[in-house]
Amino acid sequence: MELVRVDPARPGQAAIAAAADALRAGGLVAFPTETVYGLGADARDEHAVRAVFAAKGRPPDNPLIVHVADLAGLHEVAARVSPLALELAQRFWPGPLTLVLDALEHLPAVTTGHLTTVAVRVPDHPVALALLRAAALPVAAPSANRSGRPSPTTAAHVVADLDHEPVALVLDAGPCPIGIESTVVDARGQAPVILREGAVTREALGDAAHAVGSPASPGTRYRHYAPSCPVEIVAAGHGPDRAAALARDGLRVGLVAGEPAPEGVTTLAIIDGPAALARLLYEALRTAEIHGLDIVLVEAVAETGIGRAVMDRLRRATAG
Ligand code: TXA
Ligand code: MG
Repeated sequence: MELVRVDPARPGQAAIAAAADALRAGGLVAFPTETVYGLGADARDEHAVRAVFAAKGRPPDNPLIVHVADLAGLHEVAARVSPLALELAQRFWPGPLTLVLDALEHLPAVTTGHLTTVAVRVPDHPVALALLRAAALPVAAPSANRSGRPSPTTAAHVVADLDHEPVALVLDAGPCPIGIESTVVDARGQAPVILREGAVTREALGDAAHAVGSPASPGTRYRHYAPSCPVEIVAAGHGPDRAAALARDGLRVGLVAGEPAPEGVTTLAIIDGPAALARLLYEALRTAEIHGLDIVLVEAVAETGIGRAVMDRLRRATAG
């Protein structure tokens, strides 16, 4: 696995061209998006997409998100693009909104998890967009973690999970600006149906949007975002006291809170609201593992805006 640094402000042509060549040759490329790093392959190449599932250890019935460079790319993977989908694409793309639509028949069944629908988005990251334009093909890309692990928000996380897998290249553009995954919306009907909460908030989608219970996105059925040590959610402001108490009991405790951890407790992240928790949560969970901590305490944030999606991820991390 080769790691290449790319300046997000000026994505170097050589690195992008090498990554695009690898994708066109049926190889795998990990690349940054505004949400998390993705593990990409040519969405039309059954063999390449199978390699993505194998590298992640991903269940075959969990479909991938196809990434395209622009609205025109949408028509290369989706049939019957609804007026709602067009409106949402115009409002939110490039950006962290994934639209589920009827799939064009030529897309391989591995890409769509054997569903008749396809999930598609235009990512809002200069490196991702440069890669998609250079490769000139739809790129199927799940988050670039081992299945069941927290999504990678840095290139180092990708290497930690996939170092021994046949990944041609990792484009390293530093930490992802948002830090949690895109919102997945079924856009086939009259109103958006939220299948997975994410970086585009329910408020932004408007009053007509509603969430389904189960079955939502196939991926939300699986235990996700799971670090190897237990995670406990505490009320805002109560993290330090609870952490100190557990530390007195002899536990090695990590804290994600609005203030630094007390003596004897590891500060994993200091957060000043939902957006900061979104950006730092997965990194904090991975750091806790590296330090071999016994428990991680995370202070809850308000469940408005991106806070709803972050708390959703956090609850999944605590569900044993
Ligand atoms: O922000 C993101 O969405 C990142 C970056 C790399 O774009 N990708 C990502 O992919 O989080 P992944 O594979 O980790 O999650 C994709 C989610 C899963 O929950 C999957 O079940 C759902 O999208 N999905 C994919 N195709 C679908 C479909 N046809 N119908 C319903 N849900 C679908
Ligand atoms: Mg994932």
